[in-house]
Parts: sequence; C-alpha cells; structure tokens
Amino acid sequence: MKFLSTKATCNSHGQDSSYFLGWQEYEKNPYDEVRNPTGIIQMGLAENQLSFDILESWMKDNPDAAGFKRDGESIFRELALFQDYHGLPEFKNALVDFMSEIRGNKVSFDANKLVLTAGATSANETLMFCLANPGEAFLLPTPYYPGFDRDLKWRTGVEIVPIQCSSSNGFEITQSALEEAYQQAHELNLKVKGVLVTNPSNPLGTTLTREELDLLISFVDDKEIHLISDEIYSGTVFDSPGFVSVLEALKDRNLEDSDVWSRVHIVYSLSKDLGLPGFRIGAIYSNDDVVVATATKMSSFGLVSSQTQYLLSAMLSDKEFAINYIAENKKRLQNRHDMLVSGLRNAGISCLNSNAGLFCWVDLRHLLNSNTFEAEMDLWKKILFQVKLNISPGSSCHCTEPGWFRVCFANMSEETLLLSLQRIKAFVASIAPVQSTRSNTHLRPMGHSRRMSLSKWVFRLSSHDYEPER
Ligand SMILES: Cc1ncc(COP(=O)(O)O)c(C=O)c1O
Repeated sequence: MKFLSTKATCNSHGQDSSYFLGWQEYEKNPYDEVRNPTGIIQMGLAENQLSFDILESWMKDNPDAAGFKRDGESIFRELALFQDYHGLPEFKNALVDFMSEIRGNKVSFDANKLVLTAGATSANETLMFCLANPGEAFLLPTPYYPGFDRDLKWRTGVEIVPIQCSSSNGFEITQSALEEAYQQAHELNLKVKGVLVTNPSNPLGTTLTREELDLLISFVDDKEIHLISDEIYSGTVFDSPGFVSVLEALKDRNLEDSDVWSRVHIVYSLSKDLGLPGFRIGAIYSNDDVVVATATKMSSFGLVSSQTQYLLSAMLSDKEFAINYIAENKKRLQNRHDMLVSGLRNAGISCLNSNAGLFCWVDLRHLLNSNTFEAEMDLWKKILFQVKLNISPGSSCHCTEPGWFRVCFANMSEETLLLSLQRIKAFVASIAPVQSTRSNTHLRPMGHSRRMSLSKWVFRLSSHDYEPER
C-alpha cells in the first residue's frame, strides 16, 4: 500500500456503500427462475429492460446500421480508424433532435454545444473538472444517486454538501434548505461552485416542479454559481405532471441573454431512456463555450466508440422510430410502476407519489425497530439475506430519515416482479411491527403461529396480489 498513491488507497470511491454491497451479494446468489429460484432478486439496479424488443426489431429491419455498412457498402475501415474527439456530426445531430423530442420540442439543442462522453458518469465528472477546483463544493439535494460520491468527488477532489430535503413536503427543494446548505458549506470553509440536481430525480422518481426550477435558477443567479441538471431520466416521465427541462424554465423567463444562461449545464445519457448502459453514450450540453471546448478536450479520456455512434445515429435519426419508442417505453414503465405500487400497497406499504424513473421510493418506516439508521441497516439485511431482495437503503442515497428504500421495477420480467411482491408480502405478514416508528393502519400485528417459513416467502408465485391501478 505504501507504494501507491493516496487516490488508490483512500476509500472515498464509496464502494463500501450498502448500494454497491447489495450488488455484490446479488452477484453471489442471483435469482434465476429455473437454475436458482431461491436466489436474490436484483431490485437495486436502475436498468430499463422493458423495451429491448423495439430496439431489436429496428435492428432487424436496418441490418446495415449494426453491420458497419452505408448504402450496402462496408464502412468498417472508416469506423475502425475514425477517432476525432468532436464525435460524429450525424450522431450529435440525431442525439440533439432526440433530446428535443423528449422535451416535446419545447426547446431545441445546438449540436455545437454538445460534448459526447462515455455515459453520464463521465459527463458529471468532466463537468466537475471544468467548474470546480479540488476542495470546492457542489450542493446536492438529498436523497441523491449513490454513484455521485464516486463520480463527483473521488478523482476531482470536489466536495458534496447536502441540501436536506424531507418527506414532510415530498422531498421538494425549498429556499431555506438551499440557504442552509450554502451556509453549511461556508462554515466548513468550502467555496460553493454550484448546485447539481437530477431531474427526474434518482432515487425519488419525481420531476422537479416549475417552482423548484425557478427557485434553483434564482438561487444560482443570486449566488453567481453553476447549475447542473442531470436529465438522464428525462425520457422516462410516464405520468403528469410532465417533464420541464431547466432550459425550458430559463427560456420561459427570457434568460437566454443573461449571465445565468451560460452557467446552466445539462447532463444526458442513453443508459436509461434507451436502456443502453453498456454502450456508454453520454453527453454534456452547455451554453458556455469554454466549458464546451474544455470538456471536448477532456472527452479523450472517455469517448464513445465510433461504431456505437454510427449505429445510434442511424437509429435516432429514424424519426418515426424515435417517436414511437419514446411513447411505447413510457407506457410500459407506467404499467410496471403501477404494478409495483399496487403490489406494495397490498402488503401495507406505501410509496412516494412518482411520475418517472425506473424505481419507486418506498416507505418502510413502519417496519423499523427504531427510528435509526442502524435499524434501517438491520431491515435491509433481513430483506437482502432472508427475503432475498436487493433494494437500496435510503442511507446509501444520503436520505436524512431512516426507513426509505429505493426499489427498481424495470430490470426484470413481470413474473420476477410478481415473485418479489409475494416475498415482500409474506415477509411483512410474518413480522409483528415490534416498535412501529409511526402508526400504519394497513398493518396488523400477527401471532407467532401465523409466521411463515422462509421457504414460503421464496417459492410462492401467483398473480393474486396484483391488481393494476388505473
Ligand atoms: C442520476 C444518474 N446520473 C448518472 C448515472 C450514470 O449513468 P451512465 O450509465 O450513463 O454513466 C446514473 C446511473 O444510474 C444516474 O442515475
């Protein structure tokens, strides 16, 4: 160890978070309907596997795109040699059009202000390198995506100061929470360089309201700092209120010619909306020329491969495909969301009302033995090792209230989701809420004789508990 760098030996990567530990446990004992029916079901991974058939059908109808061909002629050599860090112009044009389509064409994007990166992970880190020095801070509303500790802090040396949001108003961002976080950074001797939000939110699955967007814009304007809006889930908004991009909010306030216009940056990726995290396609969109130029130079460290750009430029420039995909994908997400929410409700569990994303923010406070993060960890372990579901505890998302969990619904088959709901229901029925942290009228304590054995939680599968909500 002593021969290695501080970066290599420090643990600020965040790999020891329960968010990642849950993945490791899943890998050791993954559920499989046939080979391992008592294994752990992965509900801690925000993957979108619901619309692969649409992508596959398009590829079948367009074999040239994946076959490295243009008008029937091979372009293999051209793609193998191409490596300009500005990216393929036709891909950037197709991507900005797709981004506009997702926003109902209320805003348009200029391909010259777009920088391609290897996923949103790289986009967020690159923006940190462009906007802040080591030891400077970004403010993030809680709860937030656990990967941000790695992406924003680890290699850049930037600090995160939480904006404390609470369940009392559905975790909305308020003026006082923003001011308190700013003040806290000041007390820690940290210079604040900006605010980073995810819209729609991971892990809440909610979109920012117009009021929150206006509040954020006024705040960064007033403090003369940056605003990053990570809009990686923008195409997953399946219910009202619809998605409002920060660009739309700026435009509606006629701020295109103001200083704040060039201090607002958007992060995007096709990992969620198209379900392609393995392809590593991300982007930064900025109105600041220097940020665009610097990020473009930095993108050398994480480019999107040219054959991926080629394939996706053909796919996304097929307008009919893009429009149909967006609509159908949302429908499928809504169905899944409703299935999870109603199945949980059947088990006496409620969720934060949500309209987007690949997960729900689930309230298990009534199942805690005490109102503490230790109790949250105990419950998480029980659910992971006994019920065999990997869900993500709120503490891994820096939530300030124990008992909230993020539960993903789009990375598995419908049958697997039903099974997970059966397991949860049987688990809840088997435990008497010893010390409920709040009253929950849905839950009735049960006698020991009615407790189910573990095998019953793990094996039973029927669709009785699922009534689609309309
Ligand atoms: C809010 C948010 N930002 C960024 C990422 C990273 O995405 P990518 O796979 O494009 O690197 C994720 C992934 O879960 C995310 O939820």
